Amino acid sequence: MSREIDNDLDVLGRRNGVQSNWQDVYEPSKLVARETLRIIVSFINEKNIHLVADEIYAATAFNQPGFISIPEIIEEIDCNRDLIHIVYSLSKDMGFPGFRVGIVYSYNDAMTSCARKMSSFGLVSTQTQHMIASMLLDDIFVEKFIAKSAERLAKRHELFTKGLAQVGIGSLKSNAWLFFWIDLRRLLEDSTFEFEMALWRVIIHDVKLNVSPGSSFHCSELRWFNVCFANMDDETMRVALRRIRRLCDCQDAMLAKQS
Ligand SMILES: Cc1ncc(COP(=O)(O)O)c(C=O)c1O
Repeated sequence: MSREIDNDLDVLGRRNGVQSNWQDVYEPSKLVARETLRIIVSFINEKNIHLVADEIYAATAFNQPGFISIPEIIEEIDCNRDLIHIVYSLSKDMGFPGFRVGIVYSYNDAMTSCARKMSSFGLVSTQTQHMIASMLLDDIFVEKFIAKSAERLAKRHELFTKGLAQVGIGSLKSNAWLFFWIDLRRLLEDSTFEFEMALWRVIIHDVKLNVSPGSSFHCSELRWFNVCFANMDDETMRVALRRIRRLCDCQDAMLAKQS
């Protein structure tokens, strides 16, 4: 989002009594509040800008305030619906990346007609469609699956962040997503991009954990690393925590030697 749009949103937000960090709108680990979504929809409507809402992590919400979908917002406020498009996929919250099933939901007939024509380049097989339709039509299954998934994500998130806190590693507060941001400031020898990349190489090659440096997401603050906490079993998580603890101990010993 450009600085100009950020400023315009700030003005509109203040006018409606909402103070928001607009960058959070891109952050899948933080659920966007209803008031913020209302401001965004009013804003794009006023400026005649198309809104593409990527709701791929919709069902990964594991804590309050809960996920709010854009269709709920446009029921509440007047807007030109031709500007509203939603993309979704079963890859994340249903855990089906291999099935390659994605959805474009648009209120704009020209957009849906175009998407329908384009879909011939990446059709989902009829067998897959049949299986997915049977699964999604089973309301009881879907409800149970999503509730269980949220319960497991919350539990794992708590265990992992507590384990990290024991070795002095903080994490960005979050309530959704399959990943979270950990703060590796205590392991950075200096706050430069080079040191962040050097630490990342140590974690990948020596500690053998797959994390991503914030700079690869254009994060302006050095020290944040992205970790997936949902794709492993409890024992693998314990191994990861042991390795991180060992890395911290080595770093502490090195710093003690230097001082
Ligand atoms: C925000 C977001 N949107 C879309 C995708 C694409 O998902 P897929 O192509 O696996 O359905 C991803 C995958 O990482 C994602 O994180």
